[in-house]
Amino acid sequence: MYNLAHRILKKLDPELSHNISIKALKLGIYPKIICKNTEILEQTIWGRTFKTPIGLSAGFDKNAEVINPILNLGFSFTELGTVTPLPQKGNSKPRIHRFPAQKALINSLGFNNKGMDVFERNINNSNLKENFQDKIIGINIGNNKDTVEILDDLKKLFDRLYRLGDYIVINLSSPNTPGLRDNLKSQNFEKIVTNIHRLRDENNSKIPILFKISPDISDQDKKDISLISLANDVDGLILTNTTINKSMVNDKLEGGVSGRPLFLKSNELIRDFYTLTSGKIKIIGVGGIFDANDILTKMKLGASLIQIYSSFTYEGPYHVKKMTYDLINLIQQQGFRSISEVIGQYS
Ligand SMILES: Cc1cc2nc3c(=O)[nH]c(=O)nc-3n(C[C@H](O)[C@H](O)[C@H](O)COP(=O)(O)O)c2cc1C
Repeated sequence: MYNLAHRILKKLDPELSHNISIKALKLGIYPKIICKNTEILEQTIWGRTFKTPIGLSAGFDKNAEVINPILNLGFSFTELGTVTPLPQKGNSKPRIHRFPAQKALINSLGFNNKGMDVFERNINNSNLKENFQDKIIGINIGNNKDTVEILDDLKKLFDRLYRLGDYIVINLSSPNTPGLRDNLKSQNFEKIVTNIHRLRDENNSKIPILFKISPDISDQDKKDISLISLANDVDGLILTNTTINKSMVNDKLEGGVSGRPLFLKSNELIRDFYTLTSGKIKIIGVGGIFDANDILTKMKLGASLIQIYSSFTYEGPYHVKKMTYDLINLIQQQGFRSISEVIGQYS
């Protein structure tokens, strides 16, 4: 039944189908999936136990509406957001396009979300800690489009939300918010890192803070970001957001490409950052993962955890369970005793 529903959803307009999926998840209309005997995939990172390395990446649950359902589908962690301080409509529609032959999406959403008040309320209403002791949520924050000083927005968001998640992500890499990616240039990046770390200290918090990076940065940017991250003990980097290189899909559309065409590019960044930081900064690998082999590739290049978005929309509700068991089989076949042994094998 759920597979049939998913096949129908894939024929509808992508944003409509997303909205229907969110409604169905909220109403409990989805298969409850329990992944058992996954000890070989377990890791402790930032003092938290990740049952498997597979998480949902930001953008699917922008308003923190379906935390429990997503965790019930077999994800070990879910990244909520991107949330901005004020509600925001985003760019004009249509703004999500499917390219099934290329297993790709192009989106130009532009941080459409209901703002941090609704976001906070939704998390508080989800009884997360009671239901899921061992499941983990990340909170991905970003600035409103019209904001002049990004640090003002990040401060508002951090102060309000840092107690509610297991890690915070500063999104500096959406291609759909004008000027956002300029914050990955060394001086801007350093200013944001030091300010956000100061905020954390002022609040006596130890919450891990990660930065989400664009795949379209230069080699010099990679070096600068690595040095600044090492010097400031950054907790982690998320590699990567969507790419503006649309040559493999459709050059004429606005927005960023996700899915298969992003796979090699995001792998390149994982490899480069793992090398440049000597494996000292945790990496969450994301971009074009469709199966367990893809997960293994990203982890061997240096990712400790991975996330998916596009393949979840293409493959449906049983996708995470299948990848979880395929991953267990794969690492056992290759003689690993634990998933953590895989990380950085290729370096
Ligand atoms: C429709 C859509 C919306 C997205 N929204 C966000 C977002 O709000 N914040 C963010 O950090 N990344 C966002 N992303 C990027 C994803 O989190 C992910 O980095 C990217 O899609 C690559 O992963 P994938 O190839 O598995 O889709 C979005 C992606 C898509 C397809």
